[in-house]
Amino acid sequence: MKVMIVGSGGREHALAWRLRRSPRVSALWVAGGNAGTAQVATNLPITPENIDGVVEAAQSLGVDLVVVGPERPLADGIVDRLSEMGIPAFGPTALAARLEASKSFAREVMREAAVPGPEFRVFSDRQEALDFLSRHQGPVVVKADGLAEGKGVALCATPEEAAVSVTACLSDRIFGRAGETVVIEELLQGAEVSVFGFSDGENVSSLVAACDYKPIGDGDQGPNTGGMGSFTPPVFWDAELADVVSRTIMEPVIAAMARRGAPYRGMLYAGLMFTREGPKVLEFNCRFGDPETQVIMPLLESDPIETMTACIEGNLSQAPVRWGTQAHVGVVMVSGGYPGPYQTGREITGLDKEDADAIVFHAGAQPAGGDGPANRVVTSGGRVLTVVGKGDSLPLARAAAYRRVADLHFEDAYYRQDIGDLTVGNRQGLWSPSPSV
Ligand code: AMP
Ligand code: GLY
Repeated sequence: MKVMIVGSGGREHALAWRLRRSPRVSALWVAGGNAGTAQVATNLPITPENIDGVVEAAQSLGVDLVVVGPERPLADGIVDRLSEMGIPAFGPTALAARLEASKSFAREVMREAAVPGPEFRVFSDRQEALDFLSRHQGPVVVKADGLAEGKGVALCATPEEAAVSVTACLSDRIFGRAGETVVIEELLQGAEVSVFGFSDGENVSSLVAACDYKPIGDGDQGPNTGGMGSFTPPVFWDAELADVVSRTIMEPVIAAMARRGAPYRGMLYAGLMFTREGPKVLEFNCRFGDPETQVIMPLLESDPIETMTACIEGNLSQAPVRWGTQAHVGVVMVSGGYPGPYQTGREITGLDKEDADAIVFHAGAQPAGGDGPANRVVTSGGRVLTVVGKGDSLPLARAAAYRRVADLHFEDAYYRQDIGDLTVGNRQGLWSPSPSV
């Protein structure tokens, strides 16, 4: 099959790396791409948001399957457009992608499906939101309803703090139209886990789980980023818990979407908090996670083309998905200054080294071009590389990742030292999940 991936991050390099290993892939293009995808596929100079460009390229190249990485083109209907042109595309339609693109929609679906989540209220009127907060005590979370590049969520210790976020959203419009509506919800406490399952609109595959790290600094300090690292499996994740998440969260939501006439086909990503009362949903995403994909793609034992095709055709129950369980740790190397301003164009060295226990996935890294050596690579973004180590235990995988990181260099490179260190943050499952859920 001729396959095209849409996107240019570490997630898309990991997808390209895994798809390239499928015997069913005869040609692979990446719309966007980076220096890493260029090693396993042909990059096309089309931005992921350029839906017309993707559709045209897929048509003229005779592509048999398009795999969409980022949420924005999904929410904008790239899968609907490709399907209309008769091009099979992996990912949800615009209507189904609302599970990520509208947090209030997602909460309503969850309420309807009786999926466990925080208490919440939805407001478009600032005064009503402020009145609600004035009667409220304790911490809350204020979320812009729409897509806000991961910046739309404010964890507020007091109702006063929350009022500031509400005003910034609904009056100052700091998130533009994404913040015309806000969701105010209960602040949940516990251990956070990202859970992933394929769906064909009716069935959900076996699940895989990973933890990610959002803050820039060691010990989870400092501002949030697009993701500074990840590991799999979470230490408390087991078959019993996977079954609870499947039955109480994934399957009911898939059924509710089908009932609404917007069947969800693609990768369903549930951001969960394992609380004292059991797993609760923080958010749904309509795509693979970044940087979780970099640690879960090496675990995908069954054929990804078979799975994605089954999702599109609605026969996932005949194509069982198998995940391995070996530990993987991914350390993200970023440009110094990120998530604030940073320099690009810095040469990356050490990429050539072979290491059986590590894989280097590229994100903000591009071929240097010009008349230097053909394989010269320079930085082009904030998050530059995800360095994934594997091992028979989390400490071994972690050691493998950091061994490989030590050989990679670019000016002002920065990375967290504590990815995969379970003593940091709440990643050991502080609460034991309640068997009654
Ligand atoms: P989201 O964009 O919804 O994933 O939110 C970003 C991050 O905010 C999540 O990964 C959580 O760490 C945190 N978060 C979101 N909602 C809640 C909540 N209700 N309680 C506690 N933390 C939350
Ligand atoms: N790992 C967070 C995300 O992909 O949204």
